Amino acid sequence: MAQAQIGIIGGSGLYNMDALKDVKEVQISTPFGSPSDAVRLGTLEETRVAFLARHGRNHTLLPSELPFRANIYAMKQLGVEYLISASAVGSLKEEVKPLDMVVPDQFIDRTKNRISTFFGAGIVAHISFGDPVCHQLAGILADAIATLNLPDVTLHRGGTYVCMEGPAFSTKAESHLYRSWGATVIGMTNLPEAKLAREAEIAYATLALVTDYDCWHPDHDSVTVEMVIANLQRNATNAQKVIQETVRRLSQNPPLSEAHSALKYAILTRLDQAP
Ligand code: ADE
Repeated sequence: MAQAQIGIIGGSGLYNMDALKDVKEVQISTPFGSPSDAVRLGTLEETRVAFLARHGRNHTLLPSELPFRANIYAMKQLGVEYLISASAVGSLKEEVKPLDMVVPDQFIDRTKNRISTFFGAGIVAHISFGDPVCHQLAGILADAIATLNLPDVTLHRGGTYVCMEGPAFSTKAESHLYRSWGATVIGMTNLPEAKLAREAEIAYATLALVTDYDCWHPDHDSVTVEMVIANLQRNATNAQKVIQETVRRLSQNPPLSEAHSALKYAILTRLDQAP
């Protein structure tokens, strides 16, 4: 039986959800190993949700070390149909300021060292990924941010998230290159998650929390971990409010997403004859 319809993956600075009630921790094992941490199952806005700290609750996993497949597989096993991913990002645009919130609608993959598919080993499938984010879920998330009218927070609907490998931050040349591509924000984790969620037919959207101007801005210091954490701490309560409001809206009217039938035309292998 499905244990949670909505999943939340919390990134740096968002290691739990204070408003989660009746919390039960579950250790999940998957064919891809263990997820980043125990999943916390609980009730938020009278809805069952599954919360996972992406880097572990003590932040012990680098972006390149994350068990992305186990994390998404665990969510699928729990019955998750909608996945909200909260993540710290750097800004690549002047008008996107630290503490702002962005709901991206595109990704550019600059990772080098991640396994971002469940397929292979005899099963060949190619999901459509032209629109990598579920636009209904992203719309609900953005509407939740807009309704809350949070002080000091500007909402940016849409935008391109560059996913880099890390763990070192970008060089200035790279940062300027991404700006020349018209990208909006940069982070280290969301693209593999978005791909795997789509393969798992889970609707996915990102709440990108802006913490810095990366290293391109002439009037701002280059990004440091200290800067990221300080701004995330300022924004963590806001992020939790946004997630709670999103869950409330989503549970009232869960949309049918194209993501929910992503595999319909994706699988090439003749499964009736596969080994
Ligand atoms: N996460 C937060 N800020 C970042 C940046 N500037 N680059 C990559 N990931 C980030």
